[in-house]
Amino acid sequence: MVNPLLKNIGEDVMGFLNEIQLKYPTAISLASGRPDEHYFGLQDFPVYFNTYVDAVAAAEKKDRQTVMNNLGQYNRAKGIINEQVAAYLEKDEGIKANPEDLLITVGTQEALAIAVMTLCDKEKDVIIVEDPTYVGITHFSIITGYPVTPVQVNERGLCLNTLEQKILQHRQQGKNVKIVYVISDYQNPTGNIMPVENRLRLLELAGKYDFFILEDNAYGEFSYDGTNVLSLKALDTGKRVIYLRSFSKTLYPSLRLAALVAGQQVVEEGKVTSLSDLMAKTKGYITVNTPSINQAVFGGILIKNNYSLKQVNREKIANLKEKRDQLISSLNRFLDAGKFPWAKDISWNIPGGGFFITIKVPFKVTKAEVITCAEQYHLVFTPMSFFYLGEGGDYEIRLAFSHVSVAQISTGIERLAMYLENSIRINN
Ligand SMILES: Cc1ncc(COP(=O)(O)O)c(C=O)c1O
Repeated sequence: MVNPLLKNIGEDVMGFLNEIQLKYPTAISLASGRPDEHYFGLQDFPVYFNTYVDAVAAAEKKDRQTVMNNLGQYNRAKGIINEQVAAYLEKDEGIKANPEDLLITVGTQEALAIAVMTLCDKEKDVIIVEDPTYVGITHFSIITGYPVTPVQVNERGLCLNTLEQKILQHRQQGKNVKIVYVISDYQNPTGNIMPVENRLRLLELAGKYDFFILEDNAYGEFSYDGTNVLSLKALDTGKRVIYLRSFSKTLYPSLRLAALVAGQQVVEEGKVTSLSDLMAKTKGYITVNTPSINQAVFGGILIKNNYSLKQVNREKIANLKEKRDQLISSLNRFLDAGKFPWAKDISWNIPGGGFFITIKVPFKVTKAEVITCAEQYHLVFTPMSFFYLGEGGDYEIRLAFSHVSVAQISTGIERLAMYLENSIRINN
């Protein structure tokens, strides 16, 4: 027997998409939200590592060998580059955090696990997630048995009236909503952004109903026109937000680094305790500590760039904008309803940042449709239903344009249009 909860996660979304990609290697993939490898700059890895070693040796008056030996050892569960990351958060994101309130985690995925396992009582507490959302939180909660409830999103993010109703319904059933998980910037999968008035209202609701907001920011800096809405964390005056900042998309996923910011105090057995200390305790039994070598490389990147990633990301953002523009112009060209009447019921959003776009289509998009499109049209996309915890997304697809080239986007959309035309004809 294995964990019976495993079967509740239904579709192994990532596994399925990977298999399709392997089976049809020449297909263009608009399925994967991977960052573009052209910007990784991994050849500079040793430079950054050495920058960090030199900086620590100078600050702590130690020789390089001692610093390196320390990097080879077990290390602090909270992390070793907390000061550098706190400086970055303040400079680039307007978030003031005490370095001791930070945990440097093995990606956001570990931070999600730590937050849920530290805060929630499986018997009494409920986690609310946006529907659709990133499967990292939903699938983790399902396989570990934490109750998770979906609330739909629209083009303004989480539906706050429905959220309030759900909280009250749970209370009537003797359950407490402990965490509300949101991706407020360029949400995965929809690509939408939560406007500031909704952020303020969500913060107000968190105070009123006493829950934590788990804000997952993986895409916030990828704003194409440079206009950014302040994060919930930066707007939070009531210490309601636990902030998760992934560096997988801004730098590269193999660093496996994210920052968790939790400046709250909680009462534990009558004693006031810092939440970040409790989280460090949980982390100790998940990954012991985050690899120090990776932290040193990231620390070096921050030191070399004066604690800002704005310059590091400038070209990437310009490139993403070019891809978004190519995507929209290709959609306008190949799905022009004036020229192609079959395309009249197809629509899409125009994301202002991030990696994703949503396309609405007039037929049900199943797993079989993905296979047909890959096999016959050499294009892979993701059905939006893969990201729903509840019912929904049957008539939508997500396209991710971060990983492909500008030229592939135009070919990919031409192929998508051929596939859509055929499917619409078959379904009529
Ligand atoms: C919203 C969101 N959070 C987190 C992640 C991954 O984070 P990490 O690589 O830091 O675990 C992703 C990746 O797709 C994502 O879309």
